[in-house]
Amino acid sequence: TLVPTILAGGSGTRLWPVSRAAFPKHLVELFGEESLLQTTVRRALRTAPAGRIVTVAAAGQAVLIRRQLGALDPALLDHLLLEPSARNTAAAVALAALHAEAAFGGESILWVCPSDHLMLDQDNLYAALRRAAAAAAEGWLVTFGIAPSRPETGFGWIAPAEPLPEIEGVLRVERFIEKPVREVAERLLAEGRSLWNSGMFVFRADRMLKELGRWAPDILEATRAACPAPAEVARAGLDAAAYAGIRSQPIDKAVMERSAHVAVVPSDPQWSDVGSWHAIWELMDKDASGNARQGDTLAVDARDNLIRSERRVVALAGVEGLAVIETADAVLVADRQNSEAVRAVVDALVKGG
Ligand code: GDD
Ligand code: MG
Repeated sequence: TLVPTILAGGSGTRLWPVSRAAFPKHLVELFGEESLLQTTVRRALRTAPAGRIVTVAAAGQAVLIRRQLGALDPALLDHLLLEPSARNTAAAVALAALHAEAAFGGESILWVCPSDHLMLDQDNLYAALRRAAAAAAEGWLVTFGIAPSRPETGFGWIAPAEPLPEIEGVLRVERFIEKPVREVAERLLAEGRSLWNSGMFVFRADRMLKELGRWAPDILEATRAACPAPAEVARAGLDAAAYAGIRSQPIDKAVMERSAHVAVVPSDPQWSDVGSWHAIWELMDKDASGNARQGDTLAVDARDNLIRSERRVVALAGVEGLAVIETADAVLVADRQNSEAVRAVVDALVKGG
C-alpha cells in the first residue's frame, strides 16, 4: 500500500516578504490559484485516495492547512498530523512512519514529499515512483536523483554505486552528502557522477523505524513517547511538552547519510525546489523583455525583472535583473539572482538590525 506523506512544516526565508514564518512558502499561492501544498496533494491524489494521504504540518498553521486541504477533499483531514512544534524532518518522518505502521501496517510504503516543490513532468515522476516503490518493498530507503547543474550547497548530493540486480533503473548509493561545503560541491559537480537529492523518499514504514532505531534512537523514542496513540494522532493529537523535547535534526543527517540501505532512482521530473525569487522568475511566463509580472505592474525600458505586486501599482523604469516584491507591509528590491542576500535581509530583520 502506497502512503503518500507530505511534509509541510518548514519555514523558508529566501522568498521574503511573501513567505513568512507564519505564512511559509508552501501555503502561498505563488503561481496563481493554488498553493504549492495543494499542487503537491494533487500529485499524491493520482497515486492514492485522499483518505490514505498523510500530511505532517505545524499546529500553528492549522487553520490555513485545514482550509487548503479541505478545499481539495475533506478526507485529507483524516490523516492530518499536527506538530505542536517544529522538530525538523527526522521527527516528522518518525511520526509519519509510526502513524502509517499503526494505521496501514508496517509493510506500507511511504512516499515522503516536500510540500514546496514543483514537478513539471509528472509522467517521469510516476515512472520513477513505480521503480522506487519496488525497491522500497525490498527494504531499500529510496531517493530520487536529479542531474545537477551547479555546485549547489543547499541540497543533498548522492554518489551512486552499482545498479540493483533485482530492480531496473535503481542504483545502490555509495555516499549521501547532505549540504556539502562549496569546495566539495564543486568537486562533486566536476566529477560528474553525483546527483542532487530531490527531497523525496520512498521506504517501508517498518524499515524506516528500524533505521531510526539504529541511527537516531533518541529521536525515535522521544517521538514515540509524544505519540501515545499512533493510529489516532489526527484526532487525539500529540503531547506538546514531550514533542518539544525531541532532538531537532533533518532525516538526511539522522538516517540517509548513515544507512547502508540507501538507493537512488535517477530521474528527470523537471524538478524545482522553488527556493529563490530567481527560481520563480525562471518558472514564470515572461513578456517580450523578459519581465515576469504578477499583479498590477508596469515595465518601461526594463529587462529580465521579476515584478510582483499585491496592493499597489509597481512600475519599473530602466532597470535590469531585479526582483521587486511588493506586499502590504514590506517591499523587497533585490538583485534577482542573489538569494543569499535576501536570506541575510531576513536574518537582519529577525535580529532587529
Ligand atoms: N512537518 C514538518 N516538520 N515538516 C518540515 C519540518 C518540520 O519540522 N522541517 C521541514 N519540513 C518540511 C519542509 O516544509 C519541506 O517541505 C521539507 O520538509 C524539507 O525541508 P527543508 O527544510 O525544505 O529541507 P531542505 O530544502 O533544506 O533540504 C532537503 O531538501 C533538499 C531538496 O530541496 C534535503 O532533503 C536535501 O537533501 C534536498 O536536496
Ligand atoms: Mg527545501
